[in-house]
This record gives sequence, C-alpha cells and structure tokens, in this order.
Amino acid sequence: MTTLTVLPSGKSYDVAAGTSLLKALQSVGEAIISKCGGEARCDSCHVAVPVGKKSLSKIQRVENEKLDGIVGIGSNSRLACQAVLGEEAVTVQLL
Ligand code: FES
Repeated sequence: MTTLTVLPSGKSYDVAAGTSLLKALQSVGEAIISKCGGEARCDSCHVAVPVGKKSLSKIQRVENEKLDGIVGIGSNSRLACQAVLGEEAVTVQLL
C-alpha cells in the first residue's frame, strides 16, 4: 500500500502499489477523465505530480510521445493511465 494525496482537494487515500494512477484515482472516486480507456491515446488523464514522482514507473516512449503534444506540459506531467504507483507516497494535482 502507499498513500495517494490528491490536489486540489487535499484528500489522502491508501491505495495499492502496482496499480496505475488512473485506476487508483478512479477507485477512490476522484474525478479523472479517461477518454481512451487508458491506452495513452487521448491525453485526457494528464496530471501533475508535485511530490513523489520518483516513486512512479519511468516514462515509456508511448507516454513521452503523447506528453510532447500537450500544451502546458511541465516537468511534473504524467499520463495517469501510464504511471504505475510504487511504495513511496505520491501527491497528484488534477488538471
Ligand atoms: S486515459 Fe487516454 S491517455 Fe490516459
């Protein structure tokens, strides 16, 4: 288990490590859009990870290519459907 804090609400949840950020956010009822069903094709699940980004899985090519096309991308940007939670606590900013 790991702790997932969601901004702007500031709510924290215990979620299972090894699941995607998207599935974790959906499982706790946070409002996150997933137009492509988690296939890295739509960018609707774009989030920022201000804390704990090193706990997440590394960015793979398919995610990197999609992120490159997003206006307003930052160094903390991830696609929630592609980022898998590790054991360290993570804070995610819904955009
Ligand atoms: S849900 Fe479509 S890119 Fe993540």
